[in-house]
Amino acid sequence: MARLWTLLALLGAAVSAPLECPLPDGPDSADEATCGLYSACVWEQGGCQLADRVGYQLLEPPLVIHTLYELLLGRRDSEITMFGDDVERLTVTAVEYDDNRMALTYRDTDAARYEVPVELDVPPLPTPPPSDPQYAITLTATEAGQTFGVQSGDQFIEATFLLGAADLYGFGENNHDSFRHDLEAGVTWPIFANGHMPGDEIENSYGVHPFFLGIEDDPGSSFGVLILNSNAMEYRLFLLDGVPALTYRTTGGILDLYLFFGDSPLEVLQQYHRTIGLPVMPPYWGLGFQLCRWGYKSVQDIRDVRQRMKAAQIPQDVQWADIDYMNGSRDFTIDPVNFKDLPDFISELHEEGIRFVPIYDPTIAADFGIYGPADRGVEQDVFVGWLNSSLVPENQCEGCKDYIVAKERTSAPGLFPNFFANRTLQWWIDEIRRFIAVAGGPDGFWIDVNEPAAINTNAKGGLQCPHTPLDYPPYPTRFVRFAFNPSGTVADHTICMASVHEADLDGATTSYYHYDVHSLYGWSESRATRAAVRATMAGRRSLILSRSTFVGAGRWATHWTGDNTARWSDMKRSVVGILEFSMFGFPHVGADICGFGGDTSEHLCLRWMQLGAFYPFSRNHNAIENIDQDPAVWPSVAAAARDALGLRYRLLPYLYTLFWRASEMGETVTRPLAFQFPSDPTLRGVDTQFLWGDAVMVAPILDEASMTFVHVTFPAGQWWDLRSGALAYDADHSGGVLYQVALDEMIPVFGRGGAAVPTQRNATTTAASRANPFSLAVFGSQATGMLFWDDGETTDTFKDGSFYHCLFHFSDNTLDIQVTHNDTQWMPDPTLSEISFYGVPSEPSSVSADGVPLPADSVVYEPATGLLTVHTQLGMEADHRVVLNY
Ligand code: GLC
Repeated sequence: MARLWTLLALLGAAVSAPLECPLPDGPDSADEATCGLYSACVWEQGGCQLADRVGYQLLEPPLVIHTLYELLLGRRDSEITMFGDDVERLTVTAVEYDDNRMALTYRDTDAARYEVPVELDVPPLPTPPPSDPQYAITLTATEAGQTFGVQSGDQFIEATFLLGAADLYGFGENNHDSFRHDLEAGVTWPIFANGHMPGDEIENSYGVHPFFLGIEDDPGSSFGVLILNSNAMEYRLFLLDGVPALTYRTTGGILDLYLFFGDSPLEVLQQYHRTIGLPVMPPYWGLGFQLCRWGYKSVQDIRDVRQRMKAAQIPQDVQWADIDYMNGSRDFTIDPVNFKDLPDFISELHEEGIRFVPIYDPTIAADFGIYGPADRGVEQDVFVGWLNSSLVPENQCEGCKDYIVAKERTSAPGLFPNFFANRTLQWWIDEIRRFIAVAGGPDGFWIDVNEPAAINTNAKGGLQCPHTPLDYPPYPTRFVRFAFNPSGTVADHTICMASVHEADLDGATTSYYHYDVHSLYGWSESRATRAAVRATMAGRRSLILSRSTFVGAGRWATHWTGDNTARWSDMKRSVVGILEFSMFGFPHVGADICGFGGDTSEHLCLRWMQLGAFYPFSRNHNAIENIDQDPAVWPSVAAAARDALGLRYRLLPYLYTLFWRASEMGETVTRPLAFQFPSDPTLRGVDTQFLWGDAVMVAPILDEASMTFVHVTFPAGQWWDLRSGALAYDADHSGGVLYQVALDEMIPVFGRGGAAVPTQRNATTTAASRANPFSLAVFGSQATGMLFWDDGETTDTFKDGSFYHCLFHFSDNTLDIQVTHNDTQWMPDPTLSEISFYGVPSEPSSVSADGVPLPADSVVYEPATGLLTVHTQLGMEADHRVVLNY
């Protein structure tokens, strides 16, 4: 059914509630005199409000060509302005792409402006008219005629939208305390890539995802909005006269909105992920547990930790190395003293079936003459340059030409590769190839500090940016006002906005101001690194972990939520971060388990290891100078890690199947309850639990005050406790249950009635667990599920057909296993050796497989829980039928 979503419209006159004037120093700076400096503002009711006549109005009747609507707008009052340089005429186009997607774009009619160079997967125009659109395009009439709530100047655009839902999620990267936005609080959040360690303030973090989703009232119809813009921006979700509203402000580019509509939040996210690019399929080992720290003193130090992990029998698939392994923090080097045997160590790890991933910073130290990557980089002209040579500082380092130079972690000044240029890409691939040749091959790439970070910019001892409008825009957004922006400038912690990226990667030759593409730095490095993986790793998937991300970078990279602190509140917030990145198209995401900054504690680390065992990307990571926190340090944490990771490793075939669905269909892996069960409004605010797909629900312990108990919210239906096998909840409405969880007990994890979940006996590496036979968990009297399986390592197995896929279907006491694809020449045929039926009301007289009764001792029934375990030996290359006979 077509629905109307009110994308909105109005500034000033049409709404009775006043809208805040965007004063550069923030709303708190408002006084009558300051307000009076701007003709677009009026001082009213003790506040500085936008004048009625701000905005645009229709100049001509709309032009409708097939599925494209075009509107020409002019300023309502060309005498008033906020920051000057107003765009006089705007051309607005609305395009209907299909039933679920449309776009709305505001462009300067008379001049070209910067547009984000991220290609979206939308149909070419003209598109056939949608047959049953989930939206309707209308103009909103106001007393002043048709007016549009947009202000547009050269470096400032603002629009206010009325939204058709109050349950709103998304926008990032921010350190939100709750997953659902608090409209009452109506906080203004900045978005701009920034490398500062996230804290408790209202601040912008590493990446940029101007995407949000709203769930409407019953029955859960939903919409998503992408505002494709990469300039420094801010947003405020609030109640405008009681109506949910968004005020969006950006400092450049255009207003380019993509709207997604669906019958559920998951459908909207699927549309979104298909449009921005489907997420990369991680290698199977990337789903194993990973261990890292900053501050390993030597290879021997890491070996000792490995020994400790092995002795404690804690699963581990990946060992990471931080900047410690480098010589003077320089990329592509190895510390010749403490890490000289790194190549041997990498081979040792490989022999054990463990992978190795080291860190790389984007900054290249200007150590000319002794450092090849810098010499070759200059030779090939790969670095970001100043806007013009007159800006090059007098004390420019020797040989640094007119590149922008800033302090990062190396002792020498740093140069910044410009990943928009083909020559940089070639250089990057070449440097990676050289490193692989020396080190014997890392298995993945951790691309850190790619906001890009720099130390002390515009502060004492750092790079000083010239006073151009790029570095000092008229409205610098809330970013410059938070306490951890010591310089109070846009270029805090990074390079100057008045630098330039020459770009020739996408066919066209152009150049971008850093001002415009700053937040695309991590995106462009992720793209280049993915190209390097393709060029150097011969069809292997590898793993790229990027700190800074932008819309669509999930096609290439995994993300972690950065430098959290070893506090309970950070652990809790990590769930929000993971759910948000799952919306943003990064299913492979995790937070630093046990906390990065500060010393962790035994109990915090214990509960965090249990939670982190269910992060899609599960890595324990720690900062230098903190106490060790690998899970083998405390016997209690080791035991908790063994249990929780044991369950994770058992569930990996299911998790892997979810990743395949994400990478092929745009589904999410980790889900909030509200997205899976949108018709239940009571679940909309739950962000202390999450689901894997639709079958597994995790209820972590997140608070120190409730360290030994947890209130679990159950959506309607049947849920089984995976720890005991017992039915935990059975109702046609959602409800809560209190669980006592002693410190030596596993956090509750549940299986949903209706799901059939493929599993595998666990082991301490995925290399070993993958060789074990499969099992299947069937929840309830009717259940369905599937398994996707391949070699876990080769790229494009699905496309090339070299995979295995089967469906599980259980009803009327009959389980059917139906093979839908089987090209498994690359591995032995999988075997199914155990089936667990949860919630079997009474013991069957016998169980038969393909018509043949199984020996009585292969069937175990527990009357107390109703769990029936059936041991089989079924070759999964063929279809099978297993029947519970009564
Ligand atoms: C950055 C990273 C962190 C890393 C540290 C040292 O702060 O976010 O994970 O350990 O740099 O390289």
